[in-house]
Amino acid sequence: MEILQQGAEAVIYKDKNKVIKHRIKKEYRINEIDEKLRKFRTKREAKVLEKIDVKKPKLISVDNKNMKIEMEFINGDLLKDIFDKLKNRKEICIKIGKQIRQMHNQNIIHGDLTTSNMILKNDEIYFIDFGLSFFSDKIEDKAVDLHLLKQAIRAKHYKVFYESFEEIFRAYHPDKEFMKRFEKVESRGRYKLRKGF
Ligand SMILES: Nc1ncnc2c1ncn2[C@@H]1O[C@H](COP(=O)(O)OP(=O)(O)OP(=O)(O)O)[C@@H](O)[C@H]1O
Ligand SMILES: [Mg+2]
Repeated sequence: MEILQQGAEAVIYKDKNKVIKHRIKKEYRINEIDEKLRKFRTKREAKVLEKIDVKKPKLISVDNKNMKIEMEFINGDLLKDIFDKLKNRKEICIKIGKQIRQMHNQNIIHGDLTTSNMILKNDEIYFIDFGLSFFSDKIEDKAVDLHLLKQAIRAKHYKVFYESFEEIFRAYHPDKEFMKRFEKVESRGRYKLRKGF
């Protein structure tokens, strides 16, 4: 077993074609809150992995007590590392937009849409990291989800930001009501990118 990543939230181990995501104690959080939060996010991540219809790692098992999730290892590239130099970025952006539409149609809000939480494998996008996901049918929540992705792309991929987000947004097929809400969310501009909590 090897450590794949010591993330902001969890330690990720790889064991053959399995990934183990273990949410570990955060020393700076008050014990009780820390435990509740880790339990809640573990449960939520497993539930969403089970329900969601977009490409994602298959859930193998969940251990709520020890806050461990076992899932399929996606043997691809983290989108963040290759996005700027992708030859078929337009095609990939269309796939991203369509899949976000798909998850929002299921009333699942990812909660942390960034290129660090997407893996590209065989020209397909796999979504990961559902610990901050929630269920909602509100346009507001969907608009904020996309707005956070826009901010993340602007911050990490500023050279290709404009055309990339445009493609994603177009492929999402926003209707008039969504566009209006999206503009409203943007003009408020009070949403912060999550890092760590
Ligand atoms: N199923 C998987 N297959 C392949 N790699 C994975 C998988 N799950 C996680 N990873 C790798 O581990 C990293 C961290 O996983 P994840 O995003 O779920 O945890 P995190 O604690 O939120 O980390 P971070 O705060 O760095 O995003 C991912 O960016 C990815 O590189
Ligand atoms: Mg992550």
